Amino acid sequence: MTSTARRPIIAGNWKMHYTHLEAIQVVQKLSYLLRKDDYEVTDVVLCPSLTSLRTIQTTLEADKIPIELGAQNVFWEESGAFTGEVSAPMLAKLNVHYVIIGHSERRQIFGETDEMVNKKLKAVQKFLMTPIVCVGETLEEREAGETAARLSGQVRGAFAGIKADAAAECVVAYEPIWAIGTGRNATAEDAGTTIGGIRATLAELYGETTAEQIRIQYGGSVKPGNIAELMARPEIDGALVGGASLDPDDFAKIICFER
Ligand code: PGA
Repeated sequence: MTSTARRPIIAGNWKMHYTHLEAIQVVQKLSYLLRKDDYEVTDVVLCPSLTSLRTIQTTLEADKIPIELGAQNVFWEESGAFTGEVSAPMLAKLNVHYVIIGHSERRQIFGETDEMVNKKLKAVQKFLMTPIVCVGETLEEREAGETAARLSGQVRGAFAGIKADAAAECVVAYEPIWAIGTGRNATAEDAGTTIGGIRATLAELYGETTAEQIRIQYGGSVKPGNIAELMARPEIDGALVGGASLDPDDFAKIICFER
């Protein structure tokens, strides 16, 4: 298995942090720390909160910063009486390129199911954005030896009814729930092996060629100190970074890790 054809993607998930005013400062500092070469070898994505999307969009465009904009969530209907929700066409109009769907916090706190993730995936692709589909097992599932079955179920649920050419465009993020925000990351070897299993499920669904095109990130306590080891694994195509993406110095170090 080789990752040479897959372009690395490092995405920051700010979760519910930073007002739009704080967000501008962080983005400006981050862009000051990154060099042209960094963007040439890696897709750099920032997923701020909804209230910061428009502000960050204008900052990126005005200063010609090649960071791509991502959203943390979306609703699958295009418009209507859905108080509090935001649709895919609304995000697309803000030049949002990536949308995180099925994050474990959405699944656990807001009751998002595989079926909802599937509807969101379709809505995101309809408006020509790229879904970052999160999958991951709990500590109990891991200890019960159910990791592979859980991940396979989540992948099959998310991709139900999606054709191979559309699947090839998606990004998957493997985020073991026990590693998120805990400081306890999966070892690179473990993450690589599990991601290999996710790719095997994708190969069962779509064949080897398509599965080889799909980028799979690791997420869960990624830091400047562990990124190089994770990225050295051929199965791992990037990272979805929570806590460490809030600090521009740390996030810049993750993006320009020692290759
Ligand atoms: P973390 O979060 O890097 O803070 O562990 C990752 C995520 O939830 O995407």
